[in-house]
Amino acid sequence: MSSQAPIEFDPSVVGDLDDASVLGDAGSLRDSTTSITSSIYQYRNIHGRLYQSSETTEYWAPTDNRHIEGNDVAHQTTLMLMNNKLFAAPIENPKRVLDIGTGTGIWAIDVANDFPTAKVIGTDISAVQPSWIPPNCTFQIDDAQLDWTFQKSSFDLIHIRNLFGGIDDWPKLYRQAFEHLEPGGWIESIEIDIETRSENPRIHNDPDHIFKKWCKLFWEAGDKTGRTFRIARDGQMQKYIEEAGFVDVQHRWWKVPIGGWARDPLLKQVGLYNGLYIDLSLDGFALYPIGQILGWSLDQVHDLVSGMRKEFTDPKSLPYYNLHLVYGRKP
Ligand SMILES: C[S@@+](CC[C@H](N)C(=O)[O-])C[C@H]1O[C@@H](n2cnc3c(N)ncnc32)[C@H](O)[C@@H]1O
Repeated sequence: MSSQAPIEFDPSVVGDLDDASVLGDAGSLRDSTTSITSSIYQYRNIHGRLYQSSETTEYWAPTDNRHIEGNDVAHQTTLMLMNNKLFAAPIENPKRVLDIGTGTGIWAIDVANDFPTAKVIGTDISAVQPSWIPPNCTFQIDDAQLDWTFQKSSFDLIHIRNLFGGIDDWPKLYRQAFEHLEPGGWIESIEIDIETRSENPRIHNDPDHIFKKWCKLFWEAGDKTGRTFRIARDGQMQKYIEEAGFVDVQHRWWKVPIGGWARDPLLKQVGLYNGLYIDLSLDGFALYPIGQILGWSLDQVHDLVSGMRKEFTDPKSLPYYNLHLVYGRKP
């Protein structure tokens, strides 16, 4: 599925768009249920949230349970959009798989389970991977921004997902992936465009809406650190992947609703999961980029987050964002 059409809303959830009286809680956010050395377990603690302490890349999101649970929920959301496929690249039986910025390793573990003859490696600057993992899966602490130490031309699938805000030099990242794939191997890169959009014209046409303010703040923070939050915009992923030398490059994108407001049953389910992801992640998203990098006070950050949360819980907000996937083959 890859959809750019407007997402139709479910009137039994949203009611009349022009009627300002809000229906009760319509499940916008919360309805869905929801071998590493010890030195790596040193975290920075900012306002009670834990952050990884890599010396080479200062990553902007927390590594505590609440936040990484959100990432695992996002994994499920992506799977639903992709018809339960772990990748879109046309490779039937990958044998040597690398997952860059693996997070909890949930994607790498799923691939290892689905392809028991594959050898899967996940790398991250944060030691948040579980120790109970399939025998054909390993994790390594590695900064993807440094020169990779893997053997060149040794993988047949390299997966990169949701590293927005964590990378200084995307073209270099894709070039390193190119060098480390064997000829015929595939890269797949998936990133969120963090702009929250709305199918409600009142919000869509309001240039001062908090959704627009929110993403501009992240863009500004990313510009300040040199690690962009805009990688999924303006065809950049595709451009850099092609420039790295990949061919047969394909781009897919989805509108991903936030909350259970969509009429379509699959999108409703996706939206419920996605609402949970946002609910678990919203404070963690804001604290470092807006608090530490842009210098807002904790109270200001809390006010901003509660403003966003309020909009997300109003079913008439009809919020969504775009998710972009690009894959390509090394000739
Ligand atoms: C939003 S999480 C996504 C995790 C995983 N890719 C997924 O989609 O479930 C981003 C992860 O990238 C990691 N990361 C950020 N910058 C990195 C870098 N320079 N090298 C390796 N990992 C990095 C973070 O530590 C975090 O675990």
